[in-house]
Order: sequence, then structure tokens, then C-alpha cells
Amino acid sequence: MTDNIDISVDFAGLKLANPVMTASGTCGYADELADFMDLDALGGFITKSITVKPRKGNPTPRIVETDAGMLNAIGLANVGLERFVAEKLPVLARMKPAVFVNVAGTTIDDYVAVTQRLASEQAIAGFELNISCPNVKKGGISFGTDPVQVEEITRAVKNACGRKVLIVKLTPAVTDISATAHAAVKGGADALSLVNTFTAMVIDIETRRPVLANRTGGLSGPAIKPIAIYLVNKVYNEVARETGIPLLGLGGIRNAADVVEFMLAGATAVSVGTASFVEPGCTARIVADLRDYCQRAKVTKLSDLTGALERPAS
Ligand SMILES: Cc1cc2nc3c(=O)[nH]c(=O)nc-3n(C[C@H](O)[C@H](O)[C@H](O)COP(=O)(O)O)c2cc1C
Repeated sequence: MTDNIDISVDFAGLKLANPVMTASGTCGYADELADFMDLDALGGFITKSITVKPRKGNPTPRIVETDAGMLNAIGLANVGLERFVAEKLPVLARMKPAVFVNVAGTTIDDYVAVTQRLASEQAIAGFELNISCPNVKKGGISFGTDPVQVEEITRAVKNACGRKVLIVKLTPAVTDISATAHAAVKGGADALSLVNTFTAMVIDIETRRPVLANRTGGLSGPAIKPIAIYLVNKVYNEVARETGIPLLGLGGIRNAADVVEFMLAGATAVSVGTASFVEPGCTARIVADLRDYCQRAKVTKLSDLTGALERPAS
């Protein structure tokens, strides 16, 4: 029975063994997770954000747990482009799942420089453009909230990334996420990922100071899942259905049921982030559980679930 179940998905022309990927910034550069799970069980791997120069990130404390998730203000700490190529890429090249490099910067030229340098690397299937980081002072979220800038940066990077798949990662910190989604499509994005974290604050009542040294951070985890589901469904109905652009849904996914929920809302694939801090091998478990779900629900082709949410009677 299990043999008849197909959990593969077509994501922007790439055939993925299953729809489950890692979320940028929560699983390092891949080798960090290797002790906890078989990385080849994944559908795709998304690296932490890479910038031209190495970044130390923000001062600590830069993470704090919340009732149903966590706040982070890491500030894009990473080894920088050259060390990434020399030390991390060889490990990623040995992986079976599709590898996406998440790219960040403070100017459009920064984004272009990273993608141009990596565009010819065989090991890389595509890029995810982080124009939605709430934890850096320059660049980051400011690109992602203005449709004009979203279109401009997407077009510039698309021209630099050759035939690799370009995913644009959207921020939820906008009035109408469909406007920025449309702008990314106009700029040439091959896929959209949503959502990045929500800006939030936790206060220590003894010191009367914010817990994070950065004062604010990005909220992730189960707390944001229903909002992320709503936003994926909105972009699916208002942008993806018409243009055919695939969506990578994320925000609070912990189990196979959450993945199914995102797919029904309109996601073609999903990413798992904060849940990996609680259970580092959870992505492999989620993939196995997805097969069980299909068997139980008599779903022979998992990808049929994308956008299969019952529509309201008109
Ligand atoms: C500790 C931490 C670091 C993150 N770093 C990045 C990053 O470098 N680039 C990025 O695009 N998103 C980053 N994110 C956002 C996640 O990729 C994801 O969009 C968000 O956490 C929502 O998914 P989740 O609820 O499954 O964690 C980070 C999130 C966390 C918790």
C-alpha cells in the first residue's frame, strides 16, 4: 500500500522527493543537523542567510523563548560568502535534497554579488532572497515592505542567478501581502516563500528592560501558524492561482498535520524552522508521518492537496 503513495512535489520545475525543507537560519549550513537525522530524508535544504562579508550578528541575548514560540534577533550572523564557498558548499554538494542558498544584504549590489558568485555552482538548485529580516538596521525588511523595491531587487537578482530557481521570501509586516507578492512575480520570481517572522518584544519586569539586547526580535513557532496559514491562503487565492507561482509555506510547522494544513491553504512545499530547536531531527519524522497521513486519508498523490481547501459557496 505504502508503495502506491507519491509524496514528491514539483517545485518551480524541480522534482523534490517530498515537500519538506528546512527554514533558513534554523538549521545552519546542514552539517550541524547530520548527527540528528538523515539529511537525505528532506525534500530540500535552505541554508542560513549568506552575506558578502562575514557577520557576527547582534549582541546577546539574541533569542528568548515565548509561550508558543521564540523571539530571535540573531542579525544574520554568518561566515560570509568566501568561507561559505570554501567550507560549507562541499558538504552541501554531497546532499541528495535540493539545496537553496538564502541570500541577504544591505544593498541590491550585495544580493547580486552573492548570487552571481554562486550561480554556476552545481551543488545549488536555487536561491531564497531574504528581503524580510526584521533584525538588521540596513536592508532586511525595508526592501520587503515596498512593492517597488521588491520588484527591483527581484529583477536584479533574477538576472544574476542564471537558470537557478529564485524564491523570494516575503515579510508579513505589510498591510497587503498580495501587493508585495505580485511585485516579486513581476520582477521574475520563480517561487515565493512566506512568512518570515513577526516583530515582537519580551520585557523583563525586574530590570524593566527588553530581554533581547536588540530590544525587539522576530516571533516564530506555533504562535504564528494560523496567521501564516491565512497569509499563504490569501496569496494563493490572489496571486498564485492566477500566475501559477508555487508557494513555500512556513510558520510554526511541527508535524505532518501542519504540513497538510499549509498545503490545503495553497503551499506546494513547506519549511520547518523553530520546531528544530525542540527536536532537531523533526523534519525526517514529519516526512515519515506524511506518508502515514496519506495512507490513513487515502491520498495517493500528496501534491493533489495543494490549494484543495474547500471554497466558500458563492
Ligand atoms: C533563530 C532563527 C534564525 C533565523 N534566521 C533566518 C535567516 O538567517 N534568514 C531568513 O530568511 N530567515 C531566518 N529566520 C526565519 C525562519 O526562516 C522562518 O521564516 C520563521 O522562523 C518562521 O518559521 P518557523 O515558525 O517554523 O520557525 C530565522 C528564524 C529563527 C527562529
